[in-house]
Amino acid sequence: MPSFPYAGAIRPAEQSPQKIVIEESIMKPDYADDGMPKNRGGALLPWMIEVKSAKEIEKMKAAGRVAREVLDIGGRAIKAGMTTDEIDNIVHEEGLKRGAYPSPLNYHGFPKSCCTSVNEVICHGIPDSRVLEDGDIINLDITCYLNGYHGDCSEMFVVGEPDGSTKKLLQATYDCWILAMEFCQPGKDYKEIGAIIEDYVTKEGFTTVRNFCGHGIGSVFHTSPNILHYRNNEPNGQMAPGNTFTIEPMICEGSAKALTWPDEWTATTVDGGRSAQFEHTLVITKDGIEALTGKIESSPLQFWEIESKFHQGFWLGNTERSREKAAKLTSNAEER
Ligand code: MF3
Ligand code: CO
Ligand code: CO
Repeated sequence: MPSFPYAGAIRPAEQSPQKIVIEESIMKPDYADDGMPKNRGGALLPWMIEVKSAKEIEKMKAAGRVAREVLDIGGRAIKAGMTTDEIDNIVHEEGLKRGAYPSPLNYHGFPKSCCTSVNEVICHGIPDSRVLEDGDIINLDITCYLNGYHGDCSEMFVVGEPDGSTKKLLQATYDCWILAMEFCQPGKDYKEIGAIIEDYVTKEGFTTVRNFCGHGIGSVFHTSPNILHYRNNEPNGQMAPGNTFTIEPMICEGSAKALTWPDEWTATTVDGGRSAQFEHTLVITKDGIEALTGKIESSPLQFWEIESKFHQGFWLGNTERSREKAAKLTSNAEER
C-alpha cells in the first residue's frame, strides 16, 4: 500500500471488531443494521426547520441528559496509558445501561460508538488501540439515541497538565462557542452564528473549520438547519421556539483545511496543527436558548469554564431559568 501523507504524529492504530446492539429493549435508529439512514427529516429547503412539540422536547431532554452522563463518565476515564478503544467500550456500555443506542455506531458505516479526536484530528476520530499520552488533547463526542431521539455533545479533555498554548486554544474554542450560543434567541438568523465564531477566533489568532458544520437534530441525527461556523450568507433560516440543533465549532492553531484519512472518517488538519471542539444540542425557547446536553449536578468543572471572560461556571442557556440553574450548579461544584 502506498504510504499516506499523514500531516502530524497521529497514526491509525488497530480497531477492535464493530459491536452490534442486540438488546430487544433498546430502540435502534433506522441505519443501525445496514448503515444507511433512511429518514431525512422531511426538510425540503435549507430554511425549513422543524418545530418540535413540548412532548418531543421532553424526549430530546431525556436523550440529551443521557448523552451528558455518558460524556462525563467517558471524560473521567481519560488519562495517560488509556486507549481510545477502552473509552469507546465505556461509552458503549454506559449508554446501553441507560437504554440508549450509541448513535455513531454504523451511522453511514461508522465503526464505533463515539468519536475520539486527538491533537490534529479535527473530528470523527475512530477509537482504536492508540494509547493516550501526557499532553494530548482529546475531543470526546457522544451521541445517544433514546426512545427515538438523538442527543449530541462533545467536550475537550487534557491528558495531564495543559501548557500555555494548550490553554489558549481551549479557552478560545470554548469562548467562541459560548458567544455563539449566547446570541441565540427567536428571530435571529442562523447564518449569524458563523460570523460570531470567525470574528472571535481570528482575533485570538486561530482559524475555524469550513468542511464540517453543526446541524438540526431530533429523530434524525443530521438535518436542517446547517450551522456554519464561519462568516457566510447562506439562507439557513431564522430561529424559532421548538427548533433543536447543535453548535460545534472546530478551531485550529494553523490551517483549518481538512485532510481525510484512508479510513474515510478521520479528518485532521492539513498542517498537523491541533484542533479543538465543543458541542451542545440546543433548543430555542420562547425567550432564548437552552442546552439539552447541559452539565448536571455531578459534572466536573474544567479550567476554561472557570477562566472564561464571557461566562463563568456552567453554561445551561441564556434564559433566566437556565442562568439560575447554572449558578446553583456552579456553586455546588466549587464546594465539591
Ligand atoms: N457526533 C458527530 C456530530 O457532532 C457526528 C458523528 S457521526 C459519526 O455531528 F458517524 F462519525 F459518528
Ligand atoms: Co453534532
Ligand atoms: Co457530536
